[in-house]
Amino acid sequence: MDKFIIHGGKQLSGSVEISGAKNSALALMPACLLNAGKNTILNTPEVNDIYTMIKLLNSLGVESEFYNHELKLDTSRIKNQIAPYEHVKKMRASIYVLGPLLSRFGYAKVSMPGGCAWGPRPINLHLEAMKKLGAEIELEEGYIIAKTKRLNGAKIHFDVSSVGATGNTLMAASLAKGTTLIFNAAIEPEITLLAETLVKMGAHIKGIGSSTLEIEGVEELKPVTTKNIGDRIEAGTMLIAGAITRSKINIAYNNPEHLEIILDKLKESGVNLIVNNGIIELDANNSIIKNVDVTTAVYPGFPTDMQAQWIAYMSLAEGTSTITDTIYLDRFTHVPELMRLGAQIELRNNSAVVKGVKKLKGAKVMSTDLRASASLVLAGLAAEGETEILRIYHIDRGYQRIEEKLKMLNADITRVTTSEF
Ligand code: EPU
Repeated sequence: MDKFIIHGGKQLSGSVEISGAKNSALALMPACLLNAGKNTILNTPEVNDIYTMIKLLNSLGVESEFYNHELKLDTSRIKNQIAPYEHVKKMRASIYVLGPLLSRFGYAKVSMPGGCAWGPRPINLHLEAMKKLGAEIELEEGYIIAKTKRLNGAKIHFDVSSVGATGNTLMAASLAKGTTLIFNAAIEPEITLLAETLVKMGAHIKGIGSSTLEIEGVEELKPVTTKNIGDRIEAGTMLIAGAITRSKINIAYNNPEHLEIILDKLKESGVNLIVNNGIIELDANNSIIKNVDVTTAVYPGFPTDMQAQWIAYMSLAEGTSTITDTIYLDRFTHVPELMRLGAQIELRNNSAVVKGVKKLKGAKVMSTDLRASASLVLAGLAAEGETEILRIYHIDRGYQRIEEKLKMLNADITRVTTSEF
């Protein structure tokens, strides 16, 4: 078990490069199950969720090689269609194998993902969509068993915009017979990249980037080489690292168009930003942090995956701000930990009311989930004295060696192996 020790309260400086997006890679990898052959995903981040997905795909018979962010997946010799509990319990995104396996092989047995660290995260939309496409679904001993002779195109209206359910349905519909229409589809950049990659494989998809997708099923798809986008959440987290420590830093990130709301909110909080040719320059030198409210929403709204980091940032703002999460109403396990560092936060239903304080002070805290741990790292960088963050396996799920990146920005952060839990 590892922990971080941070000596905070210091300005950062320098440049850091943003890795490929975890959440798009997690959709692109199972999409390769739709064809039989050698696929390559470039710019894949080296994070534990990706290793978990590789293990799951290996257990299905996919052969993999992963070197220097280049992930090769050979899907020629799939030997079973079962996603076991041992993998799915580690990562909910495992549900992404359901659509491709069912569509290509007519059968999938996928362990039900349980609750997650901050509460229930249902998969009803995924299952309803598969049923609409003609699958028979049974739930047995904790497993979803889905069967079909061949999926048939259908009209699918999602009541809630869901990244995962849109991705699963897109993949399944690509090999279904006939036309599928998805209404209220997610338009997150990760879904757009998935759709573009499916088109490269030979899928017929119209409306990419919009909330109505039309998929004309094809008989088969071919293997591809595809390039992953940069991770907008890692980019946002690093920018806040600069802003919360009132520093001047640069990040190398090729997709600033995916970060507009975060850049806008950062500017509102008083920092200067220049976006130029794949580099974002942030200058928060000498600026005070102005209080800025945010409400999470689906893309292009403020991402729920940046909510915890924004709360950490606002804990040092001049006034009071309200941060509301409309996507996950109970995703606030970081709040009591931030309060151990001196933050003043009151939870009111799905909102955190953050009264800015002059200083945070280092303390021992515990990570509770991926983005929660990112918020603790940010607060630790700004807090005076020593902050120890336990259970950082959470952060390793989705940030590629974050301490090394922060060290490149001159942060004083060390990873230490500990028996403490
Ligand atoms: N929802 C349902 N039923 C479903 C699916 C979703 O009610 O069947 C609800 C959820 O409870 C939530 C909303 O719909 O209120 C949106 O959830 P969504 O399905 O979009 O989330 P997801 O696909 O499970 C992805 C990311 C999450 C990110 C959310 C929201 C991946 C692998 N995960 O999850 O990322 O928070 O979209 O943007 O893409 C993270 O990276 O830390 C993370 C949790």
